[in-house]
Amino acid sequence: MEILRNIPLNSLTTLRLGGPAAYLSHIASIEVLREAIEWAQGKNLPLMVLGEGSNVLAPDEGHEGLVLIMNIKGLHVIETGSVVELVACAGENWDGLVKYAIENGLYGIENLSGIPGSVGATPIQNIGAYGTEIKNMIKWVEIFDSKTMKTVKLYNNECGFGYRDSIFKKPQSRSLIVTRVCFTLKKHGILNTSYRDVSNYFKEKDVKPTLISLRTAILSIRGKKFPNLYKVGTAGSFFKNPIIRKKDLEILLKTYKDLPFFEIDEDKDKVKIPLAWILEHVCNMKGWKRGNFETFSKHALVFVHSGNGTTKELKEFASMVAQCVKEKTNIDIQPEVTYL
Ligand code: EPU
Repeated sequence: MEILRNIPLNSLTTLRLGGPAAYLSHIASIEVLREAIEWAQGKNLPLMVLGEGSNVLAPDEGHEGLVLIMNIKGLHVIETGSVVELVACAGENWDGLVKYAIENGLYGIENLSGIPGSVGATPIQNIGAYGTEIKNMIKWVEIFDSKTMKTVKLYNNECGFGYRDSIFKKPQSRSLIVTRVCFTLKKHGILNTSYRDVSNYFKEKDVKPTLISLRTAILSIRGKKFPNLYKVGTAGSFFKNPIIRKKDLEILLKTYKDLPFFEIDEDKDKVKIPLAWILEHVCNMKGWKRGNFETFSKHALVFVHSGNGTTKELKEFASMVAQCVKEKTNIDIQPEVTYL
């Protein structure tokens, strides 16, 4: 186990924000994880867990304890008839796994192509895009509990999955570190091309949807909407899309008659509305810039950091956005990005 000192968190997060981590260790196995946790506990240092840092906001003060960079690699394939289980370690790159599945003719995660981050982050956030949510493919999540120092498997129904939410985000789960995830994929599946951007793509290109062409479609759609992570600081959507009661929707539709909304499976009395639409059409905040931060010119919900800002500034920027939404629609919005 190697412990590094004084590593800037802004070099480890795609928003490129955050002060120094006093200690940092790259974790390549469960044994090293155990050793690193014992080392930190011996010194009474708090732990912070990071994967690829693509959906987190790190504090300007940094972290006074030990940062664990989850880098455990490995993939195990279990075939049972028409179903194939992919058991992937937390440190595998998510899109690498999607590509592997597609190249091997496995259905289920193709719509989640191109999402940045590691496998270990996917259940925490219950990642979703273009009509697919990862909770529908997760069989179990293996965690290492830093309280009991034991590895435990949590089955899907024990994970508390919701829209961009899970038990792993709750304060009482702070001691749980995701080490492996088992995804159930199909050898013969049905492609979901119903999301508007996706169906438009296939109409315009006049190509037949296949696993491969669907991946190409998603990567192309994402390429047009998201800034390049390697060029600017970003974490994708900064806020969640709000879920509101249908009776509140009725009121909003009186003023904003074009406001889009989507039915949700979880609750028939509520709808999800695209915050990007409100930011663009109600708050006039698409491409809105203050200091070192702006809402992306091609997608208003995606925040961009030009490189010299601070987390404090971004929080102020985000609260100005939230305030406008509250004033114009009376909706309280919640961050999608995890504040560390
Ligand atoms: N829209 C605007 N202005 C914009 C962008 C979008 O008015 O600048 C409107 C359009 O009407 C569009 C609607 O908003 O039809 C929805 O936009 P989009 O399809 O881009 O999706 P989204 O609701 O903004 C969500 C997820 C994304 C995911 C996409 C595609 C959240 C918070 N965001 O965005 O996930 O990639 O759907 O499925 O749920 C992420 O979680 O970080 C993320 C990027």
